[in-house]
Amino acid sequence: MKKALVVALTLALLPATAALAANPNVAEKKAGIEAKGYVWNSQEGGEKIEALKLKGDAKRGKEAYEVCGACHLPSGSGRPDGTFPQLAGQHATVIIKQIADIREGLRDNPTMYPFAQTLTDAQELADVAQYIQTLCIPREHGMGAKDPAVLKHGEELYKKECTSCHGETGAGDKAKFYPVLAGQHYKYMLRQVTEIRDGKRRNANPDMVKIVKKYSDHDLDAVVTYMSTLTMPGTLCPEKKGAGKKK
Ligand code: HEC
Ligand code: HEC
Repeated sequence: MKKALVVALTLALLPATAALAANPNVAEKKAGIEAKGYVWNSQEGGEKIEALKLKGDAKRGKEAYEVCGACHLPSGSGRPDGTFPQLAGQHATVIIKQIADIREGLRDNPTMYPFAQTLTDAQELADVAQYIQTLCIPREHGMGAKDPAVLKHGEELYKKECTSCHGETGAGDKAKFYPVLAGQHYKYMLRQVTEIRDGKRRNANPDMVKIVKKYSDHDLDAVVTYMSTLTMPGTLCPEKKGAGKKK
């Protein structure tokens, strides 16, 4: 709670027109995929490498997560409207990489940046990532329109070009930093793949970019529609009591 308050006060005290360069609440951009010689997931030191070496403590992570829940919700489910991604059950490695990228200015996220700064050090980053990884994946999330023709096209694309990294069930790969996509919101994923295709997500994986570069908006919609139906066995939240009435 204390930290949330500090952040709220910091934000309140900032004049709305504060010069960006001098603003501690705006990340300084680091060269990403738009730059020559970009290396995805560079292993050259920094906070990410430090946090990956540490053992995360989910209990401490739960406290650090409090401020995050304001946007990503206490359950980690985010919002189906695509504003805030689903986080629950994501690989700790992926969480660490994404937050470190955001803090370093390699992934642009002005909305979250000041809050990412509430994590005081690599240990707290490891802790919050460990906590998020232990959360169950909510059953309800934002899905695409279930047009059978679109779903079929999406399934074909996904099975042909995406499973090698993201897996049949959308489970990703913890050791390789490939994100879990099962349970993620349609609208969020559509925004991300579009930004990845168009070179706007600056920490993207170049091998994935090569694949989605040739996709039309229709292809992206189809593949994301299909991905939004994926479920990863053994990671879903238990069914609510009284729910589960099948028709
Ligand atoms: C003010 C709202 C807000 C708060 C608070 C916030 N986030 Fe976020 N977060 C976002 C938004 C918005 C995005 C997606 C940005 C985009 O579209 O690229 C995001 C993205 C992420 C991602 C990347 C997810 C992915 O699938 O790649 C992670 C990880 C994350 N947040 C973790 C956290 C953690 C941990 C905290 C607390 C320390 C936190 N966030 C606090 C708004 C917030
Ligand atoms: C070579 C491996 C690889 C392939 C193939 C691949 N991806 Fe990815 N994908 C990644 C990695 C790695 C990331 C995270 C990049 C980063 O570090 O920010 C990612 C991120 C994403 C994201 C954003 C996830 C998030 O939480 O923000 C979506 C959506 C996605 N991929 C969809 C696809 C689709 C659709 C395909 C097939 C057309 C595909 N990917 C093929 C490796 C791959």
